[in-house]
Amino acid sequence: MEMVAFYYFLAFLLAFFLLSKQFFPKRKNLPPSGPLSFPIIGHLYLFKKPLHQNLARISSQYGPILLLKFGSRRVLLVSSPSAAEECFTTNDIVFANRPRFLSGKYLGFDYTVLALAPYGQHWRNLRRLTTLEIFSSTRLQMFSKTRTNEVHSLLQRLLAIAGNSSETQDMKSMFFELTLNNMMMMIAGKRYYGDNVGVLDKAKHFQELVEEIFGAGGVSNIEDFLPLLKWVNFNGLEKKLVRLQKKRDQFMKELIEEHRMARTQSKDEKSLLDVLLSLQEDDPNYYTDEIIVGIIHVLLIAGTDTTAGTMEWAMSLLLNHPEVLKEAQAEIDAIVGQDRLLNESDISHLPYLHCIINETLRLYPAGPLLVPHESSEECIVGGYSIPRGTMLLVNLWAIQKDPNLWEEPTKFIPERMESIEGVRDGYKLMPFGSGRRSCPGEGLALRVVGLTLGSLIQCFEWERVDEELIDMTEGTGLTMPKAKPLEAKCKPRPAMLSFLSQL
Ligand code: HEM
Repeated sequence: MEMVAFYYFLAFLLAFFLLSKQFFPKRKNLPPSGPLSFPIIGHLYLFKKPLHQNLARISSQYGPILLLKFGSRRVLLVSSPSAAEECFTTNDIVFANRPRFLSGKYLGFDYTVLALAPYGQHWRNLRRLTTLEIFSSTRLQMFSKTRTNEVHSLLQRLLAIAGNSSETQDMKSMFFELTLNNMMMMIAGKRYYGDNVGVLDKAKHFQELVEEIFGAGGVSNIEDFLPLLKWVNFNGLEKKLVRLQKKRDQFMKELIEEHRMARTQSKDEKSLLDVLLSLQEDDPNYYTDEIIVGIIHVLLIAGTDTTAGTMEWAMSLLLNHPEVLKEAQAEIDAIVGQDRLLNESDISHLPYLHCIINETLRLYPAGPLLVPHESSEECIVGGYSIPRGTMLLVNLWAIQKDPNLWEEPTKFIPERMESIEGVRDGYKLMPFGSGRRSCPGEGLALRVVGLTLGSLIQCFEWERVDEELIDMTEGTGLTMPKAKPLEAKCKPRPAMLSFLSQL
């Protein structure tokens, strides 16, 4: 009898153990969840723009590793170099995925577009293809003349209007035009901005499209976190995305059609579109028009506003710090001289210019929260368990301005970059991200920014339009635009006039 009772007792224990595992799973060692989280909306009430600034305030109060809830999504917010390092080294593959957003459904981000494609064979294929045809050093070298030509047309344009002392330059548009032309030359072998007014109109539309896409995408739409709002079309986001999708498709499809009609046969000068259309002939089921649109779309979008914005911030900083501008000019005069125009191969011999670019990217990184990542399985960060399917936001803006890591973090001090080679300092400076999903356009962007800024400094004297300092307020938008576009005045340096007039 006693034995029977004992067996009953054992069976009861086993059943309790199994049921408790089922209904009361072991509490995981999750990261702290920061401020109060409400049912359904979670932390969405904290969603104020610019998001990176608001999230930085929360991290400084609650800690560098937080597990927030944006509506129905779990979000790991990381704001320290050591936690970022763990995400991009030990857990790099785990976090190599991208979360799906509503904008992806309409703009093809979820599959066709490299930047937001899920990690896997298709992403590897797109990345390999674009590395080979756009980002490899051979291809970058091949298009060096294109970049030089674009910078020379900018110098010409500035010279033509600089004579008029009352004329101010809209630097934002000029930088955008330059980067778009560069990208279009690499992608389709044609410029978009030029003397032809019809083409100019088309390109203006494209600039608006880029701005709209950056405004509509990413982590700032609350519809992405509260499915209910999608159904009631809360902000009219879906309507906006459908309109954007139509606009984008029309632009891209026209581009592809035009190109189909006039393909380049020369082996060396093949543009990316030539290559993609040849691949389509061999494998039409994989290289569909949709895939081609996706590839071109991401390169044009990711490669224009980011690079142009960085140049605009850099020029704004220089105009507010004339002593830095003078020193940069002195460096160029000493190393390049005034008897020829600066070229791309000079850039690596101009350490102070390099410091100015790095310091600009520290203060105004074009991807202040990087691009969101997502964990494909459970992992550990900072000793905490991070569940599968968690969206990762690395607050680069907060790390690059952390007073514990940088002295006088909000000040523009290019000299602090003197000991840094390249554009990375561990995980405390990484404007292009890190790991396998880091920016593939880094080399291209640094060439364009270096050559353009260096040439503007070498050839012109620059000043602000009036006594007032340039307004450095950040606008809202994914790539951290300036709230007020930069306007400036310039006049050619006498010693450079003869070279400028020969362009
Ligand atoms: C100053 C200029 C630029 C900055 C600061 C910048 C920064 C970044 C950052 C922070 C990321 C996200 C990294 C991550 O998620 O961890 C990124 C991704 C990306 N960037 Fe850039 N970028 C710049 C220029 C460019 C250019 C010129 C191109 C191409 C023409 C480009 C193409 C891309 C692509 C395709 C991705 C997505 C990569 C992937 O998901 O595999 N970027 N960039």
